[in-house]
Amino acid sequence: MKNQLIGPFKQLLTMRNLPLKGALQDSQLGIISNGGIYVEGEYIVEVGDYDHLREKYSEASPVVLYGEYIAVPGFIDCHTHIAFAGNRANDFALRNAGSSYLEIAAAGGGIWSTVQHTRACTMETLIELTTSRAEYLLQQGVTTVEVKSGYGLNVEEELKTLCAIKAAGAHTSVDLITTCLAAHMKPRDFEGSASEYLEYIATNLFPLLKTEDLTHRIDAFIEESAFSVEEIQPYLSRAQELGFDITLHADQFTTSGSKLAVAMGAVSADHLEASTSEEIALLSQSDVVAVALPAASLGLGCAFTPARALLDAGASLAIATDWNPGSAPMGQLVTSASILASNQKLTNAEVLAAITYRAAHALRLADRGRLVTGQLADFAIYPTDNYQNITYQQGALQPQFVWKRGELVYSITS
Ligand code: NIG
Ligand code: FE
Repeated sequence: MKNQLIGPFKQLLTMRNLPLKGALQDSQLGIISNGGIYVEGEYIVEVGDYDHLREKYSEASPVVLYGEYIAVPGFIDCHTHIAFAGNRANDFALRNAGSSYLEIAAAGGGIWSTVQHTRACTMETLIELTTSRAEYLLQQGVTTVEVKSGYGLNVEEELKTLCAIKAAGAHTSVDLITTCLAAHMKPRDFEGSASEYLEYIATNLFPLLKTEDLTHRIDAFIEESAFSVEEIQPYLSRAQELGFDITLHADQFTTSGSKLAVAMGAVSADHLEASTSEEIALLSQSDVVAVALPAASLGLGCAFTPARALLDAGASLAIATDWNPGSAPMGQLVTSASILASNQKLTNAEVLAAITYRAAHALRLADRGRLVTGQLADFAIYPTDNYQNITYQQGALQPQFVWKRGELVYSITS
């Protein structure tokens, strides 16, 4: 096992003792100046004053940083759809030219077009595409990425996608967390009702997800164009009976999804652009993490999630890229989170919490998201003396080094 002492850091953002829910002030970030991180194997053993740690762990291999650097916990992108093939630039152009969702779908766009491209894609190519997108996120300091299926939409193709995500996880140092989104829409080639499609998936796919150990998370898109609360409820109940965690695409265009998320004890409710004070109050009184997806608002040109109101009401807020070819092609976590911060008036602590330990909580991962004893040694190192520059530069400031599980896995030389 390697014992390493990394530092010194002008600022080391520990995020220790920050609450899971509610508004945050930057004074709560738990910053250590002249900080160091002592790592054994994959885990952090101690963070603290660099000179003190240097003396205490004199046997450790020193990884000395010359210049001005800060360290933040590795970012966690808790909602993506990066296992896809094809491109929907034409959807974007048509939307900006004034076409409606239905017109775009009729012109051959929408989710169904990505389903066709992804089904036509070999397993090998899907693994490559997923891996390269995970690596693109790694360059932004992201060390854990949730990846949904949902462009397969039958048992065989959903299995292919989830196996491809799992295989991609072996090709990148980023941890990939799989989620089954077979309930993304009723596929056009399924002969039967929405309920019959969900019944077919629950009966034929759920058991395989368990036996093949492909995921412990089930997602569904609750929307007029996808599934109603009545249709989805039996499906989600079956998933919960089998021990799956539930997460929902909720309140993107119309409300109802987040109420269901709260009623069913989902781990997160994601999107929430259409949530009103009623949904905000319900979410805030629950343990459901509210996940804002600002890149989807930018991609669709619609309202942002009411992140300020959610935090002020006491909710736990995470922010993710939603990287997908339709609504959120950007794939930039810090850029989209910083834009949400300007729009919603979020503090740096709220933004950083939303892409670290609060995002970890949305994935029910307790071993990452803070730089404290016992957590995974996942961190991003920025060439700056002030953490405020991260959101200020809206993603233009990039990490120079990224560490994952105690290994330096990415670096750029300036
Ligand atoms: O999270 N809202 C539903 N699903 C995706 C979009 C998927 C697509 O358009 O391909 C989302 O925005
Ligand atoms: Fe999504």
